[in-house]
Amino acid sequence: MKREGFNSKIGAIAAAAGSAVGLGNIWRFPYVTGENGGAAFLLLYLIFMILIALPVLMSEFSIGRMTGKPVTDAFRQISPKGHWYLIGFSGVVCAFVIMSFYNVVAGWTMYYVYLSVTGKLQDLTTAEVSQTFHNTVSDPTISIFWMVIMLSLTGYVVARGVSGGIEKYSKILMPVLLLLIIVVCIRSITLDTECKGISFLLAPDFSKLSIKSVLEALGQAFFSLSLGMGTMTTYGSYISRKQNLPKSAMSVAIIDFFIAFLAGLMIFPCAFACGVNPGSGPGLVFETLPNVFNQMPMGWIISIVFFLLLVVAAVTSSISMLEVLVDFLLSKYNMKRPRATVFAITLTIILGIGCATFSPMLDFFDNLSANVMLPLGGFFIILSVPVCIGAKKMRAEMEAHGGKFKLFPVFYFLAKYIAPWAILFIFVSKMLSWFGIELFD
Ligand code: TRP
Repeated sequence: MKREGFNSKIGAIAAAAGSAVGLGNIWRFPYVTGENGGAAFLLLYLIFMILIALPVLMSEFSIGRMTGKPVTDAFRQISPKGHWYLIGFSGVVCAFVIMSFYNVVAGWTMYYVYLSVTGKLQDLTTAEVSQTFHNTVSDPTISIFWMVIMLSLTGYVVARGVSGGIEKYSKILMPVLLLLIIVVCIRSITLDTECKGISFLLAPDFSKLSIKSVLEALGQAFFSLSLGMGTMTTYGSYISRKQNLPKSAMSVAIIDFFIAFLAGLMIFPCAFACGVNPGSGPGLVFETLPNVFNQMPMGWIISIVFFLLLVVAAVTSSISMLEVLVDFLLSKYNMKRPRATVFAITLTIILGIGCATFSPMLDFFDNLSANVMLPLGGFFIILSVPVCIGAKKMRAEMEAHGGKFKLFPVFYFLAKYIAPWAILFIFVSKMLSWFGIELFD
């Protein structure tokens, strides 16, 4: 059976960017940045993006395109005798873990569209906005109901196949989201007359960093770029050989960082202006944004459109995770697409019900995936480049479009000597800290 592919260059970038840009940028980035003290964390995140995440992204794209196979088979092909195919299996497990809590949060976003439409977010005080969020998360029926709707939507798109579904939706809606974020940013910044939010995000205070922040910055870079579990490997297998891979990877990383940064600019000024603690955790976006909308002309319409587009961003990311699962079921068990989709969604709903009813499970899944599973997956993926593929083959793949990749030596150096060992070092230091041994502080 011939594998499906993306129809155009821009479509492939848009789909990969659609996977990368999602709740990770707009919900997760501000809340972890807030919890870890702001600017110093942002800087660390940027450094990890460039030195670790971008090389991993390039590797995932290349491995996917080189083999043209779904994750498990891709790693089996680059090393027929080794056990690298286990990366694929851990990716499949990880996709279930992330999907289950991700869609609960996406469900809250959808519920906020409903609240905006019915005017229930209008003219609330800051305290009432926070209360609304707490009511939302403490009512499992709300979380479960909207999660199921969200997953059905994701399933609908995936069941229709790669180019017919994913590509079409991503291309149109992402630019609209960007535009709206900029508008909301401007209003938020003008609310913050003392510029406290801006300096929180831009003036680093390194005393606030701990080994926990270092690991979280790394985890956030992986989560945000959809790395470490085979999503981008799967997408890589859909990219045409005529396309410049390193350049596409760079575009995706730049778009992803830029949107997270804008989300920070949108959230923190408002948080300071309204007296919401920037370190208040996973509710941060939901407790700040309605306050900005309430102080904008036509705020309620903006609120509807904004949360709606956030839902779309979440769907395009959720799609990319489901695609890993479906692709795996298709090739492994020879299932038909719709059947595989229903199967994967049902399993996710069961796990999701746990996250929706028991919030420590949601936090645990969030932590486990971003700070443990993805960096470990990333470690093995990037290590497979020098160990299983080698410079010559890697270079040939990255230059398959017929151009030169001038920074190849830098990439290879990072892939062989820096990225895997930095991941391992951060990881081990964090584990030592559980036993009371602090390498930092
Ligand atoms: N990157 C997405 C976001 O920022 C989430 C996501 C999609 C993801 N696919 C992934 C995260 C794979 C980790 C791994 O919202």
